[in-house]
Amino acid sequence: MATEDKLLHSFLAAGDEAGHENSAERKRRTAERARVPVPLSHQVAGHKFGIHKVGILQHFDGTVLKQLQPPPRGPCEMQFYTQVFAQDCTASHLLALQQHLPKYYGTWSPSDKPNELYLKLEDVAGRFARPCIMDVKIGKKSYDPFASQEKQEEQIRKYPLMEEIGFLILGMRVYHVASGSYVSHDQFYGRSLTKETLKTGLAQFFHNGEELRKDAISLSIHKIHNILHWFESQKQLHFYASSLLFVYEGFCHIANSKNKNKGLTGQKSKQAEPQTKGNADLTSLKLKSHCGQVNCSSSSSSSSSSSSLFKAIHSVRRVNGFGSHCPHHQDIGNTPYMENNVEVKMIDFAHVFPSDRSDDGYIYGLKSLLFVLEQIIQD
Ligand SMILES: Nc1ncnc2c1ncn2[C@@H]1O[C@H](COP(=O)(O)OP(=O)(O)OP(=O)(O)O)[C@@H](O)[C@H]1O
Ligand SMILES: [Mg+2]
Repeated sequence: MATEDKLLHSFLAAGDEAGHENSAERKRRTAERARVPVPLSHQVAGHKFGIHKVGILQHFDGTVLKQLQPPPRGPCEMQFYTQVFAQDCTASHLLALQQHLPKYYGTWSPSDKPNELYLKLEDVAGRFARPCIMDVKIGKKSYDPFASQEKQEEQIRKYPLMEEIGFLILGMRVYHVASGSYVSHDQFYGRSLTKETLKTGLAQFFHNGEELRKDAISLSIHKIHNILHWFESQKQLHFYASSLLFVYEGFCHIANSKNKNKGLTGQKSKQAEPQTKGNADLTSLKLKSHCGQVNCSSSSSSSSSSSSLFKAIHSVRRVNGFGSHCPHHQDIGNTPYMENNVEVKMIDFAHVFPSDRSDDGYIYGLKSLLFVLEQIIQD
């Protein structure tokens, strides 16, 4: 039985046990039990429930739960998050890193299995109505310095171009506006990409079936530059087999492109309403209220300035009024729409090690990724 089914099954079975209770109490307990974490619906890569023994869960409070991998990987990741988000943390490089990670809310365990440990993390895609998500592994090496010969060979065999390209798409899902559905690619898609097909392969993430989302590419480039700036300013940590998680809003652009097509810019489009219950209802209301602003912003950053990356980023900065290394905005209500429209966060820290040199492998990967994104935007 798939894990998802097991969770549902145990929930239903537990409901039977409560048969002796009065109806109100039964309803309350049933509602309580319904709040069991479920497999993360928008996971694009990594260990998944139903396929592997462990996977990423979605807590009813909107956070995600990542079960600790067996040692040393799980404890390594937990220690990393604990250090970066420690309340008494004073290390400037760790404080500066916080803005590039999902927020960490400590550990979580199921009440009936107190020994099962999960990391409780911000859902990076949680505030998006139609999140387009991509997981990209960064670095020249997918294995750490302590990996066995066998592990090294296995990782190299999986993607021999890693050393040269410096990044690997592990999975993605893209919202296609015409069909109103998601198009997904798994790890084998990324592994099939060569130097010749890499640009087209990566561009698929930013293509919604109707047009290339140059606004999302520009903002992603801007956020990667901020992460690169952090890596160039620190020598204490090295990251192996770690990823960047990209998210951009696929929903609001429906209004944008439909309005553009119909010459209705500035008016509310009925087709912009969510067709199904969104990922974040509250957020989508806020998104809708900002749609007019998006129409102006995205067209100004993608028309005349699209041939120049510098101009594109400059234009995005001008529209948003933020600098190159702005602090992370916590409050969506106060965040400029465009910046809020895209997220790039570092995830997966099972192989983080102390060091006394800059992390040249990761920096190489970031620069390579930036180069390809700049090529896409310039085409
Ligand atoms: N904080 C998060 N917010 C939203 N989605 C997330 C978050 N963390 C992970 N995910 C989703 O889960 C996937 C896998 O995450 P992650 O890389 O951390 O786990 P993993 O690869 O299974 O773990 P490991 O490599 O430690 O075995 C990501 O590609 C992403 O889709
Ligand atoms: Mg991963």
